[in-house]
Amino acid sequence: MPLIPRMDRIAYGGDYNPEQWPEALWTEDVSLMREAGVNLVSLGIFAWALLEPAPGEYEFGWLDRSLDLLHDGGISVDLATPTAAPPPWFLRRHPEAAPVTREGLRLGGSARQSFCPSSPAYAAASAGITEQLARRYADHPALVLWHSHNEYGGANAYCYCETSAAAFRNWLRDHYGDLGKLNDAWGTAFWSQRYGDWDEIEPPIIAPTTVNPAQELDFFRFSSDAHLAGFRRERDILHRLCPGVPVTTNFMLANCKNIDYWKWSREVDVVSNDHYLQAERPDNHIELAMCADLSRSVAHGRPWLLMEHSTGGVNWQPRNLAKAPGEMRRNSLQHLARGADGILFFQWRASRYGAEKFHSAMLPHGGTASRTWRDVVSLGESLGALGELRDSRVAADVALLWDWESWWALELPWRPAALAFRDRQEAFYESLWRAHRTVDFAHPEADLGAYPLVVAPSSYLLSPAAADNLRRYVAGGGTLLVSYFSGIVDTHDAVHAGGHPGALGDLLGLAVEEFAPLRAAESVRLDDGRVADTWTERLELRGATAVASYADGPAAGLPAITRHGRAFYVSTRLDPAGTAALLATVAEAAGLPAAPELPEQLEMVRRRTGTTEYVIAINHGETGAVLPGHGVELLTGERVADGLEVPAGEVRVLRENPR
Ligand code: GAL
Repeated sequence: MPLIPRMDRIAYGGDYNPEQWPEALWTEDVSLMREAGVNLVSLGIFAWALLEPAPGEYEFGWLDRSLDLLHDGGISVDLATPTAAPPPWFLRRHPEAAPVTREGLRLGGSARQSFCPSSPAYAAASAGITEQLARRYADHPALVLWHSHNEYGGANAYCYCETSAAAFRNWLRDHYGDLGKLNDAWGTAFWSQRYGDWDEIEPPIIAPTTVNPAQELDFFRFSSDAHLAGFRRERDILHRLCPGVPVTTNFMLANCKNIDYWKWSREVDVVSNDHYLQAERPDNHIELAMCADLSRSVAHGRPWLLMEHSTGGVNWQPRNLAKAPGEMRRNSLQHLARGADGILFFQWRASRYGAEKFHSAMLPHGGTASRTWRDVVSLGESLGALGELRDSRVAADVALLWDWESWWALELPWRPAALAFRDRQEAFYESLWRAHRTVDFAHPEADLGAYPLVVAPSSYLLSPAAADNLRRYVAGGGTLLVSYFSGIVDTHDAVHAGGHPGALGDLLGLAVEEFAPLRAAESVRLDDGRVADTWTERLELRGATAVASYADGPAAGLPAITRHGRAFYVSTRLDPAGTAALLATVAEAAGLPAAPELPEQLEMVRRRTGTTEYVIAINHGETGAVLPGHGVELLTGERVADGLEVPAGEVRVLRENPR
């Protein structure tokens, strides 16, 4: 089934905010959209105050006219519930619904997402406007998708007000049932925390020193669930009043720590993601590829929608760099290569006023006499020519374990050293990208049987079920690489019994006797010449063999990299060359076919249907590169006999013919 059943093309477009412009301009918008090949816009995302200017008073005339105009122009609509930006009347009427920070500061309303996610007043108001929209537009022919809210948890991830505190206690009651169970799970014998009454429990507000980590973890879970309850509320109204039209909400995968997207992925009809390039970072296209692969993985391999990215600079990074010529096109087709069936931008027309007026757009302030506009038109043409890729799938041969709960736990204070969750994820991902391996991400409890190789990058929090899953995976013939500080605690941040790494010691055939982090600027050498920094461990082998040992540092003479059957372990933070060599070793042990011999800068991804194979090649380098293959180049119609030149900075898409 296609991503959006009522669309028969790759979706192309962006956020459209006609309410910011005189109506006289709307006809021009539609005709320019047609010129650019735009076929889908996200409408009304921040229009609550205009749709409901006073509580219970609605003004839908302008939205009716906008939808009709779009429909007449052949543009489909992803209609938003405008609930991410409550109108000024809302907080005036319900001052208790303002979000409160961990420090106890009540936040004001002159921005967006200024509401407490657990507020009953917010629930009623947001359900009210959602219901009105669903009733009015359920049968509008332009409507193909519902866009609930905007980036749940983006600005108000955590709220510590009294309402949130009560909701947190209810969540805990539902979860534990019995206060004794909570006391055990939270280890409240420590620091005299034992609770005798549910009402004694607070959210983890700022305290004189570090708060109970198990309490923090449950507050992360509660907060993600509080936003999820908001999404479910809207989705259920939309499903009830408008069956048949899928509901999505835009995720912020990879960059958003606050939301447990594995859990959310089961609740949305369509996975959509927003991605903004980390402009100043070298090789930021690799980070883009990672986020796109994570989006596909969270969509469980199904196509997904890139709901937002930018044509050029954004307005919220320290320096908002413009994109180089060709970069926006490469970014877009990279997302497509990695499974997106729609490419949308924030936003259609650059705003004249407000906080985002310096953000790029499809139609910049300068209008159509601009390179951006020409690039937008040309991308629309290309996507139009690539329609047959829709609903094809990307096959990966490696899975990286990614778990939001482990992210939360790893980055809590008072660990042996400050470790960042994304650090090892990105290190392994980048190395695999450079080796032209396609990567999926997987939850540690997911079925891993399809992957010859699984990598667990610093999987600090690992449930007993996840550890069993990994044991089963290896027993079933899978090859596993685990990096340091993995399998240390359970889901309550309690150390697994039996010494480190309690959850994985038997599988890895070793014990970590002691963590031995390094000084800030310190590095160590391994006896095979590899270099590492940040972290080492004193290992004792209990069945595993040493692949390499520490030549110096606090663990000198002890094993650094080990192997126990098909389970490998690396106890330190290898540099990129060391990481690449280790991944090559484990890929060979996993029996992965040799990675394609390609210049490193040539990104190559395959999308497949039951009968056809597509190759998307993106040249990120400054010199041309040859893509081996034979078939038809879809953008030019050219027949390819043997090898296709991909010029510097360009993209080629090939439908391969079987020989
Ligand atoms: C997104 C948000 C959009 C817009 C954009 C700017 O996070 O969903 O509404 O603010 O950032 O880059």
